Formats: sequence, C-alpha cells, structure tokens
Amino acid sequence: MHLSTLALPLLAASVDAQLHKLAKQAGLKYFGAATDTPGFRERAGLEAAYEQYNAIRDDTNEFGQTTPTNGQKWLFTEPERGVFNFTEGDVVADIAENNGQILRCHALVWHSQLAPWVEQGTWTAEEVEQIIVDHITNVAGYYKGKCYAWDVVNEALEEDGSYRKSVFYNALGEDYIKLAFKTAAEVDPTAKLYYNDYNLESPSPKSRAAVNIVKMLQAEGIKIDGIGMQAHLVADRAATLDDQIAVIESYAATGVEVAYTELDVRLFTPNDEEKLALQKEVYRNSTGACVQTEACVGITLWDFYDPFSWVPYVFEGEGDALLWFEDFEKHPAYDGVVEALTNGTKPCKPGKGRGKGKGKGHKRSNKLF
Ligand code: XIL
Repeated sequence: MHLSTLALPLLAASVDAQLHKLAKQAGLKYFGAATDTPGFRERAGLEAAYEQYNAIRDDTNEFGQTTPTNGQKWLFTEPERGVFNFTEGDVVADIAENNGQILRCHALVWHSQLAPWVEQGTWTAEEVEQIIVDHITNVAGYYKGKCYAWDVVNEALEEDGSYRKSVFYNALGEDYIKLAFKTAAEVDPTAKLYYNDYNLESPSPKSRAAVNIVKMLQAEGIKIDGIGMQAHLVADRAATLDDQIAVIESYAATGVEVAYTELDVRLFTPNDEEKLALQKEVYRNSTGACVQTEACVGITLWDFYDPFSWVPYVFEGEGDALLWFEDFEKHPAYDGVVEALTNGTKPCKPGKGRGKGKGKGHKRSNKLF
C-alpha cells in the first residue's frame, strides 16, 4: 500500500480541529464556543447528533473555552427570592472543568431572562440594592474561582447611549452598575469583571457610553476588567475590520481588555454561495480584529452548531449563523476564521516587546488563566 493513503486520514484529523490551537499561536488566550444543557437547546429531538456535537465541543484543539448560554442567568439561578439553583449552570461549568477549558460566566445583572419575582415586586431602592447584592453574593460566590470572567452587567445601554430603563436602573440609576461591580469584585476577586453588550462592534454613541461606564467605575476605584462585545452580526451589514479595530482600541484606551463574547453571523435562509461568502468575510474580519489588537483576549461563538443557535427563534427568516451546518459540514466561514488566525500574531505593547530589555513579549504559558 502506498504510504500516503495511510498517512492522509491522520493528517486530516490533525488539521481538522484547530481554532483554539491557532488562536493561541496568534497570541489570543482562547477561541471558544458557548453551549447549553441538552434540555435547554433551541432545537429538541436531535439526540442522534449529540455524540458528534460533543466530540467537537470537547476537543480542546478546536475550543479552549466555553460559556453556558443560559444556565447561569437569573431566571435559573434564583427563580424565587433566596432560592438558588445551580443545576443547569453546573452542567457547563463541569464540561469546562473536565475538558480543561476556560469558563466565561454569564450573566449576573441583566434585564432579560430575569426571574419574574424581581420584576413583579414593588421594591424600595434599598430592597433592590439588597436583591442585587444577595444575587451576586450567592451566584458569583458559588462559582468563585471557576470563572475566568463574569459578565457582571449585561445590556445596560440603549442604542443612543442612554441607560436602559430596567427594574435596576429605575430604582437606583447608574449606581446599580457600581453596586454590581463592587459586589462581584468582593465576592470573586480573581474573576475578570466585564461589561457586556451587543452593537458594540463599531464606534457609536453606544460604544462611547460603554467607555463611559468603564470610566465611571474607575473614577470611583471600582474594579472593571473588560468590555465584552457580544457580536451578534449580520452577514451583509457587519462592521468593517477597521471599525472593529478602532472600537477595540477605544475600549483599550481605558486600560481594560476586550473579548468577542457571543459571536454569530446570521444570514437570510436559505443560504447560497454569495451569502456564505459574505459571512466568511465577516467572521474573518472579527477574528482579524481580535488578532490585530493587543487588548482582545479571545473569541466565543454563541454555540457552534446551527441547530442550537438562538438566531432562527429570534430573527425571523434568518439563521445559519454558526460554523457547523446541521449535517456537521463546516461553513466556508470556518476557513475565514482560520485565515485570520494564521495571518499574523498579536501586536505587543511598546515596552513589552520581544527580546528587548526586560520585556517578555507574549505569554505563551499553558496555564488556563
Ligand atoms: C440567548 C440564548 O442563546 C437563548 O437560548 C435564550 O433563549 C435567549 O438568550 N444576548 C445575551 C445572551 O447576552 O444571553 C442571549 O442568549 C443572546 C443575546
């Protein structure tokens, strides 16, 4: 038998799963994918696909990080006042632990998927303060030491940069954000504390308001470590590479790190070659922006398998937003990500440069975080 016929399948396997591996080589901390517990997945009845799905999810050459898409949200972690439940969140936290994957934790204070009791009550400002403190103390306390990062406050901003009138804002104004970060910092001092939102991928009133949240916290000596760009993008009208780089630099100017926390790129179904080519470009640009900016630490896909994407359930007529089709074929966009990851490595800050003086350049340790 000719040698190459033997060697080929092996070679194919080793180049097959590679996003996290290549991301590390490019200087990122991780390339990951969010996942959900079987009972919560968007599309039910796909049990036959689980084995193949799990194999991709658990392959640390592909994904070095994960996030529970739902299990750590308020609705599930504190469904009744003072009643805490970590069953769903633990499923994904355990997957991360068993696989040795970084866990991003999501999300502590958010107006959506909030337990009804929080919104339905009539509370004084002091009571809302207590509710926030109790929630963060219990949830972040339970996961203490396990989370690389916490999305402490999620989606506090409107598109024009004003604050969203949530139950938290209505009671406390912007002080609720201060309280949330202050409490999270006390409860889990090693987790990176993030402000996370959508439409933060190019400069806008909203992105400037996110910068102002960071500055507001810093002015009061309250810890904030990162801005999370959810990056729920649209194939035919996404931010350009330059805009993404510019906005990341605007966040980085405050001293925080940046991450793509929920990346997906939707298109109108059915797909065609042209739509998939556009999608590939968008994935390439977001990945490229992360590689080309010092502050961007990593990228998380909001799941990786189209049938488990939230997109078709929320955006009518749209879908195919992730990197694996239902039949487990990869989207062309997978190659777009690979291209961006292999197109260069992260720039170093002046003074951190390689080989000069005391600077050590990039850290390439095997430590998780
Ligand atoms: C989505 C989940 O993927 C869905 O399963 C759920 O039904 C709704 O929420 N911004 C966020 C995420 O911060 O938590 C949301 O996740 C998507 C938008």
